[in-house]
Amino acid sequence: MKAYRGALLRFDDQHQPVYDSDGLLVIGPDAQGGRQLVHAAGAYDALAGRFPDVAVEDVRGQLIAPGFVDLHVHYPQTDVIGAPAPGLLPWLENYTYPHESRFADKAYARSVADFFFDELMRHGVTTALTFATSHPASVDAAFEAAQARGLRFITGKVLQDRHSPDGVRDDTQQSLADTEALIRRWHGVGRLGYAITPRFAPTSTEAQLRGAGEIAARHPDVWIQSHVAENRDEIRWAMELFPGARSYLGVYDDVGLLRERAIYAHCIHLDGEDRQLMARSGAAAAVSPTSNLFLGSGFFDYVQADDHGMRYGLASDVGGGTSFSPFHTMLAAYYVGREGQTKTGLSLTPSRLWWQHTAGAARALGLEGVIGNLQPGCEADFVVLDPQATPLLARKTAQADSLDELLFALIVLGDDRVVRRCVVDGRTA
Ligand code: GUN
Ligand code: ZN
Repeated sequence: MKAYRGALLRFDDQHQPVYDSDGLLVIGPDAQGGRQLVHAAGAYDALAGRFPDVAVEDVRGQLIAPGFVDLHVHYPQTDVIGAPAPGLLPWLENYTYPHESRFADKAYARSVADFFFDELMRHGVTTALTFATSHPASVDAAFEAAQARGLRFITGKVLQDRHSPDGVRDDTQQSLADTEALIRRWHGVGRLGYAITPRFAPTSTEAQLRGAGEIAARHPDVWIQSHVAENRDEIRWAMELFPGARSYLGVYDDVGLLRERAIYAHCIHLDGEDRQLMARSGAAAAVSPTSNLFLGSGFFDYVQADDHGMRYGLASDVGGGTSFSPFHTMLAAYYVGREGQTKTGLSLTPSRLWWQHTAGAARALGLEGVIGNLQPGCEADFVVLDPQATPLLARKTAQADSLDELLFALIVLGDDRVVRRCVVDGRTA
């Protein structure tokens, strides 16, 4: 076993922050001696006597917090960040698809995956639900790179059998067979999990979506990920292609792709019935504020989401998103949340934003109590953050009189410079 002494942040069952300004985090192997878990977490004075023989690393002055969970990101779009386009559809056509076509080459895919994971960890992200590309090799490359780092990681082969250019378009039957084979090869291997990944309704035939839904029914613990209701042109197109559906979200419902462990990126332009459907089905939204602001897609409606009991968590959505940094994403989410404030008085608190990018995102994935938190039994993925990482942060955090003031200073002024250490499965990355 090993322990860390420092300021310690975690969340209780009511999603409220629990903070010890002088805390102790004790980690050790699980009963099988394999994975590193949180053994105890709490105030140093209350806990230290229980672990007299455990070596304690002193990180006082720094904040120990759960590793961040990115609920939606595209590793193959690492080099697409910042591509200028008037909106989603031309951005896909002109930049994203041409770039993704390169991921048929496994060696190239692996080189990008290695960079991507190193970048995630540099930013304190320890789990990501990630799109690969339509090429099975891109999935193998990502899983192998995650496995080498001991990360808990979920990805899947993108399904897109129409309205897609040569180089990324796949074949209906082959794509479904590839998905089944990849599930068998990777799902549940160590910390890895598979996600059935239809890109979005406009680039899949109904047959492909139905096939994906059938696979999802056969594998209830496999994840599902897609995009929905991001952009007005996209929605118009989806409704032209599926005129019988009640709504864009309804397309996925009709084929069995709405259930627990299904994560839908964006969910901006939903109506009340859609939001009810999200809540009832147990599906969750990946809120991607830097992407939505960059591509001019719109503003996630936090008030409506909460009113309908929707689950959601925060996501970078790189390369539509502009940063791997959870701090940048939380700040953008705060700006987006302000949009609703004038009408309702909503203001997202810093601890609420933090929860959405850790324990809340884990809950959306059905991994509550496994990752995204530092309660006993959770996997030992955490970050050590330096509140004095920059002169301005040092000045600002020295004046913080409450946890919210401390967290807000980090959200507003923080970035990768704050992340002094990223610990994955008990090992410093
Ligand atoms: N909709 C379909 N594909 C994509 C993608 O790659 N990024 C975003 N933001 N939206 C999409
Ligand atoms: Zn996306």
